[in-house]
Amino acid sequence: MDKIRTKQIRKISLSKEDIYKGNLLLVNQDYFLHEDLNRKLVKCLDSLDVLLDKEVNKYLQLALKKIKAKGKITFVSGFRLREEQEKIYADSLRESGEEFTKKYVALPGASEHETGLAIDLGLTMDKIDFIRPLFPHMGICEEFRKVASQYGFIERYKKDKEKITKINAEEWHFRYVGYPHAKIIEQNNFCLEEYIEFLKKGKFSFDEYEIEYIPYENKKLVIELGKDDTISGNNCDGYIVTRKVK
Ligand code: DAL
Ligand code: ZN
Repeated sequence: MDKIRTKQIRKISLSKEDIYKGNLLLVNQDYFLHEDLNRKLVKCLDSLDVLLDKEVNKYLQLALKKIKAKGKITFVSGFRLREEQEKIYADSLRESGEEFTKKYVALPGASEHETGLAIDLGLTMDKIDFIRPLFPHMGICEEFRKVASQYGFIERYKKDKEKITKINAEEWHFRYVGYPHAKIIEQNNFCLEEYIEFLKKGKFSFDEYEIEYIPYENKKLVIELGKDDTISGNNCDGYIVTRKVK
């Protein structure tokens, strides 16, 4: 079961594997990816080899269109196979050393790039650094940041959250979590680790949505989803249901 959109109300049966699927997965060195997510991947642009989850690419292209970014922003790195992350990690260790690599490259299995939900963006220029592309807080890059949450993206690794994320600030790495989650994360200055914990405090409403965390309790669970409701595992210990209430 991946993110689900139903036409009518229907019952969904959730099992343990469903904890590890969806748009709200927390992936870090404490919560590794569990399996091949079997996502529908598409090319960011016809001529490029950068792949992303189909839904993620749809909202990314809409955001870029909104700010008229065509040609000004480059897709540097999207979906990575486990083997690709292993190679990037090994190459970085060899070329830049352990201290740098631990700060800027996630361990294979702990990279959001392996989900298809993350994209590294770079300001278009002749030479782009693959590990640390330039995506400054100005011009077209800042315009993207301003609209990103409306389209479901968060700047995942911020300076003031380094102690929690254990990754250095990465101004170029955007993670899709979907709307309204990206907006809530931005407005509260959460990192994803903090948001996943915050959700456990209880059901709450935001905009037209009601959001509820449901812990996995060692048994199958059946829930009802409406037309525009979605569900995602958190990759840790439960599910997050997002209901459209208006
Ligand atoms: N640069 C990010 C942390 C990654 O390797 O997934
Ligand atoms: Zn990245």
